[in-house]
Amino acid sequence: MNFLGIDLGTSSVKIVIMNEQGQVTASVSKDYDVIYKKVGWAEQRPEDWWNATKDGIREVIKNSNTDGDSIKGIGFSGQMHGLVLLDKYGNVLRPAILWCDQRTQEECDYLNYEIGQKNISLYTGNKALTGFTAPKLLWVKKHEKEIFNKIAHILLPKDYIRYKLTGQFATDASDASGMLMLDVKERKWSKEMLDILGIKEEVLPKVYESWEPTGNITKEVAEYTGLTEDTIVVAGAGDNAAGAVGTGVVKSGNLLITLGTSGVVFASSDNYEVDDENRLHSFCHSNGKWHQMGVMLSAASCLKWWIENINKKLESDSFDNLLNEAEKSPVGSNGVIFLPYLMGERTPYSDPDAKGVFFGLNMTNTRGDMTRAVLEGVCFGLRDSLEILKSLNVPIEAVRVSGGGAKSPLWRQILADIFGVKVQLISSKEGPAYGAAILAAVGCGLYSTVDEACEKLIKVTDSIDPILENVEKYNKYYDIYKKLYPSLKESFKEISKVQ
Ligand code: XUL
Repeated sequence: MNFLGIDLGTSSVKIVIMNEQGQVTASVSKDYDVIYKKVGWAEQRPEDWWNATKDGIREVIKNSNTDGDSIKGIGFSGQMHGLVLLDKYGNVLRPAILWCDQRTQEECDYLNYEIGQKNISLYTGNKALTGFTAPKLLWVKKHEKEIFNKIAHILLPKDYIRYKLTGQFATDASDASGMLMLDVKERKWSKEMLDILGIKEEVLPKVYESWEPTGNITKEVAEYTGLTEDTIVVAGAGDNAAGAVGTGVVKSGNLLITLGTSGVVFASSDNYEVDDENRLHSFCHSNGKWHQMGVMLSAASCLKWWIENINKKLESDSFDNLLNEAEKSPVGSNGVIFLPYLMGERTPYSDPDAKGVFFGLNMTNTRGDMTRAVLEGVCFGLRDSLEILKSLNVPIEAVRVSGGGAKSPLWRQILADIFGVKVQLISSKEGPAYGAAILAAVGCGLYSTVDEACEKLIKVTDSIDPILENVEKYNKYYDIYKKLYPSLKESFKEISKVQ
């Protein structure tokens, strides 16, 4: 028996094959573009996701020693919150509006101030944030009325891929939580929210738990990919919940830090919890329980921007060279602090106008200081979410790290030092795609629960201790870091207007 995990990310789709022993035996990754039409907008063509995914499945099966008919189940991990709209024939109505798109401040103000944050939180467990799906739908209703009137199906990104694979309209509770349409406590659509948005429940997909089967592969897809019509497709999860499964973060007290395109602090919880001010997202987890989460919009993408957009002019400006220079810079980057708000910020500020900043530069600073400041600034941003969790008395027993940025030993040490906690590394390196494959294995009956699968499959292989001397220095830098956004808030707004 084999299982496929499909992680539909923002820059690529990654597909892994996992065997019955939980080993990843093959993987493939296919890229696609993000369309940035205007400042703060981010869109993708669902057709691009589908082309990349169907070719990826075909390729990974062909290049592995696996027969398509040995693949019993498929699970998903998906970039969250994206709005995919289909007409009654199943055609895509407009490009998907992505999780990092920031165009919906007006719609969020309407929901939080006119309907009222208290009500929205009562219905969904969350407040309206520009990234979430419901404000995007209100934006389409206001600005693209003709498209709004043709909507027959509203889907999340991975659920569009499910539709293409199986013909079914379905989603899962963890990903649906990020739509601001789900009653997260009860794990079903909120009638109140659907009334506010002016939509009927039949345009929304059916909500499943992440490991539950939602349909089988169609004949046409089976023929193209090498899968069979017996292959079942389970509901899957939002990328953070799937990543938590792939790293074994399924119990209260367990934390996952993701250094991906976005930066995430994810706390698993046995119970439904909401903080009074909705500073953290309160979402369903993919093991049938819940989680609380803080999200920064640019994490590893800050380093990508710094290296590729700003520095990569010469051969010597390679990723490794820049990171080596950063390693030579001392703790605190010789006084340079970077604010990582390149796409605005979500947690803790919910501010689409926030911008990136290098602060504290002087004549002696080097590029190494600036690269290190980028790494540190992202970790300070993540610490903001950690501080909220601490203030809510959320237990913090074990912290695991995942995402592309976690591959850098320097970044992992900086994270341990800025958080002042031990950071664990685990056996699997595939994160969300691995979590997706585990969900498929549970759905096919190999394990009776998601927690049991994690217990058996995920092992801690190493841990990084914080260095006390660095922790103390970073505490001082963090005190300065957290004062910078409030002092610049108004200037961020002004610069957005004059641009
Ligand atoms: C979570 C979020 C991001 C995306 C990235 O709320 O917006 O982590 O899921 O894919």
